[in-house]
Parts: sequence; structure tokens; C-alpha cells
Amino acid sequence: MRRRFLAANWKMHKTVGEAVAFARDFLPRVKAARAEIAIAPPFTALAALGEALAGSHVALAAQNVHDEAKGAFTGEIAPGMLADLGCAWAIVGHSERRALFGETDAFVARKAAALFAAGLRPIVCVGETLAEREAGRTFAVLETQLAGSLAAVPGERAAELVLAYEPVWAIGTGRTATPAMAQEAHAMIRGWLRGRFAAAADAIRIQYGGSVKPDNAAELLAQPDVDGALVGGAGLEPESFARIVLAKEEP
Ligand code: PGA
Repeated sequence: MRRRFLAANWKMHKTVGEAVAFARDFLPRVKAARAEIAIAPPFTALAALGEALAGSHVALAAQNVHDEAKGAFTGEIAPGMLADLGCAWAIVGHSERRALFGETDAFVARKAAALFAAGLRPIVCVGETLAEREAGRTFAVLETQLAGSLAAVPGERAAELVLAYEPVWAIGTGRTATPAMAQEAHAMIRGWLRGRFAAAADAIRIQYGGSVKPDNAAELLAQPDVDGALVGGAGLEPESFARIVLAKEEP
């Protein structure tokens, strides 16, 4: 009942020309894909990539958003501005935003609510650091992030929410969580979502993120509560992202 959802997070990579060239190469490769697909380029490439993706089944996503609709917030982008460009999704609470730009769970919660209000959908990221995992605090950390970051999700929209479980120690390190570790965390998150959103929890997609590559995607995606992936480095190349998108449903 949960359609697989693969999203590429390009972070601070690609010019407008590079983004459009990616789309030309990538789209024919995923024509027959059954999975839902989104690409999150830098803000500067959203408009051009949106045009290049028009008419395809690949959606446009932003990597961040501000929670206010307008105002004196130098350097920030409002949800309505993203909607205006045809963005369907925005990533919020990525660990790089939390660690490098001081984003709190409360701010992430406001962003998620603002996205819903503007007709977009959030991909809300959570995940523990290596020190937290080694201290046996993974579940406690995830619970705190979930409670804080999802505090303002309207109950009737809960099924449209997407979570991304991204262990910080696996992001950009080549050190992927094992399928069993991913499943354990995803099952815990699903259990928490059931407590918070009741039956809607079974419709909420939970992506895994952290060094997902073409050769480890199938076994991660085969886990019962892994409903997709949020892909950084391997999402920068059309061939490798297409191979992840097309990874077998059953390895
Ligand atoms: P990675 O990044 O695939 O390069 O580890 C994942 C992410 O940060 O979303």
C-alpha cells in the first residue's frame, strides 16, 4: 500500500546547465519506473529543472524552506514561492541543516506545517549521531526528534507526510546502515507514528538515507518498513540514481 519513493538531494551541487543536462539523461532511463521519484536541486536550479521535468513523473523538491509566508527574512525562501515554481516537496530538518545551521525541532515543525498550508509536502529528516548510537540512545534521540519535528502536522494530512531516517554517521561516509539496522529504526519510527497518527501511520512512507548506492539499494529497500530512499552522492549521476530507482522490489 506504500508506493516506493526515491528522492535525490543534490545539496550544494550543480549549475542550471548541469541540472538540465541531468534531466535529459535521467528521464529516459526511468520511463518505466513504478516508484515515485523526486529531485531536490539547489534553489537556483529549481525553475530550470522544473521545466526540464515538466510532463514527466519526476517531481520537483526543495532542500529547505522558511516557515513564514513573506517578510523581512533576508536570504530565505517562502513555501508559496516554492509552490509557484511547481515544487511538490521540500526536505526539512536535514542533519546538515540541524548541525551546521542550528535548526531546532521546533523550527522544523513550523516548516512542515507551513508546507502543508501552502499545498506542498514535507520530507522530514531524523537520525542519530555516532556518539548517540554508541551510547545506546538511538531510539531516545529519534523519539525526541519525531515529537518535536512533527508537533504541528495536521492530523488529516498525516498520510501525506514522508519521513527520512538518516543516521548521521552514514551520510556521505560510505558507511551504510545494515538492512537490519535500518529496519530496526524504521520499525521504531512506524510504531511511534502509530501512537501519534493512528491508522494513517501505515500510509506514511519512511525513506532511508545515508550512503545509499546502486549496489546496496535493493537489500535496504526490501526491508518491510523501508519505503524508499533519500539519496545524496549517488543521486548526482543519472546512471547511478536510475539504478537505485529501478532496484528490484525483491532482491
Ligand atoms: P549520501 O547523503 O547519500 O551522500 O550519504 C544522503 C543525504 O544526506 O540525504
